[in-house]
Amino acid sequence: GDVRLWGGRFADGPAEALAKLSASVHFDWRLAPYDIAGSRAHARVLHKAQLLTADELTRMLDGLDRLERDVADGSFTGTIADEDVHTALERGLLERLGPDLGGKLRAGRSRNDQVATLFRMYLRDHARIVGGLLADLQEALIGLAEAHPDVAMPGRTHLQHAQPVLFAHHVLAHVQALSRDAERLRQWDERTAVSPYGSGALAGSSLGLDPEAVAADLGFERGSVGNSIDGTASRDFVAEFAFITAMVGVNLSRIAEEVIVWNTKEFSFVTLHDAFSTGSSIMPQKKNPDIAELARGKSGRLIGNLTGLLATLKALPLAYNRDLQEDKEPVFDSCDQLEVLLPAFTGMMATLTVNRERMEELAPAGFSLATDIAEWLVKQGVPFRVAHEVAGECVKECEAQGIELDQLTDEQFAKISPHLTPDVRGVLNVPGALASRDGRGGTAPSAVAVQLAEVRADLVRQ
Ligand code: ARG
Repeated sequence: GDVRLWGGRFADGPAEALAKLSASVHFDWRLAPYDIAGSRAHARVLHKAQLLTADELTRMLDGLDRLERDVADGSFTGTIADEDVHTALERGLLERLGPDLGGKLRAGRSRNDQVATLFRMYLRDHARIVGGLLADLQEALIGLAEAHPDVAMPGRTHLQHAQPVLFAHHVLAHVQALSRDAERLRQWDERTAVSPYGSGALAGSSLGLDPEAVAADLGFERGSVGNSIDGTASRDFVAEFAFITAMVGVNLSRIAEEVIVWNTKEFSFVTLHDAFSTGSSIMPQKKNPDIAELARGKSGRLIGNLTGLLATLKALPLAYNRDLQEDKEPVFDSCDQLEVLLPAFTGMMATLTVNRERMEELAPAGFSLATDIAEWLVKQGVPFRVAHEVAGECVKECEAQGIELDQLTDEQFAKISPHLTPDVRGVLNVPGALASRDGRGGTAPSAVAVQLAEVRADLVRQ
């Protein structure tokens, strides 16, 4: 028989070219378990509305159970002739229950409200999966910070030496960004906990069905949608999910870029574990940071998924349009990519070795303590404008002589400014510079310890 759900008014079947274009079953099949859950909930409200007898409901639920098992073990699958997952599963149900009972489930629902609901369910599950993987990465980064509580490194702005910072402080900056992404996922989930089921094709149903009961049945904590047109036509929940996953990708790419640079011969700040690096087919000496590079590369793909989706949605009139079938592949891809990337990325970060000597050797280089001279002068009562000038003179003198700030003699300091007494040497060392920045959010070991406790507590709360 004709598997199409809409064959009635057509004299001819679809052209093969149309069937090929139209089919989504090869990518929306992953919604099958959600479709069956939706069908169970729908059968129950049909029964509540007296459109299915108790016996019919029992047999319907049994048929859905059998179909679910056959989908799970692969003995039932959709084909291109089925068009989409919803059509394929309807065929499966008809095959198991016969047309009289099987044909009753379609009453009062449309693929438009079905797909909008199932897609939310799928993405909510994957928001939790991605959130869990993100927590693993946060955990690894917090561990890395905890394992190196007192290692100094050159802090940079414009990629130039700026001021020394604690390595732990730098790593925790990434943790802060990732924990905002995790929070975004949780807030998105809360916003997405509303069910479109019952919206029908666009206008709702005349059959006295109970959308709130379906919503409760399917785990939508915030009930059913307030507007059936919005329920079937809105996809901002998809775009927002694509944004959050793209943002995760962008945040990973920023860590990745640093790992790639730190891992060069010139920096030699970190060494990657063999299990999380790759070799070259021609250059035997090579050990490459491929995980970091793939993270950097995949972030482009995640951004593309977001922008492609926004372009699809732009100027789309209400209500459902078939354009919306293009909404699934990009975000399915975003889930798939992050779900393979994050575990590898976490492994790389959890196992890398930190070259403490190298980081600490470079921490004071490039006159990164010049600000400390200026701030020391301010504490002696010198206006900052003058202090900045004087510290700049010190740098100029050092550059002329090819030396570092702490190598200036007492006489040279005094010649630059009478305010520069030998006591200034007290701040010309990295531990002193770090310890002095002890306000909230600063890089002093005491402040970083507070931050560590906060991010740990935040991770536990998730
Ligand atoms: N497969 C479609 C989608 O992904 C749902 C079916 C709606 N089709 C229709 N002709 N109303 O959006």
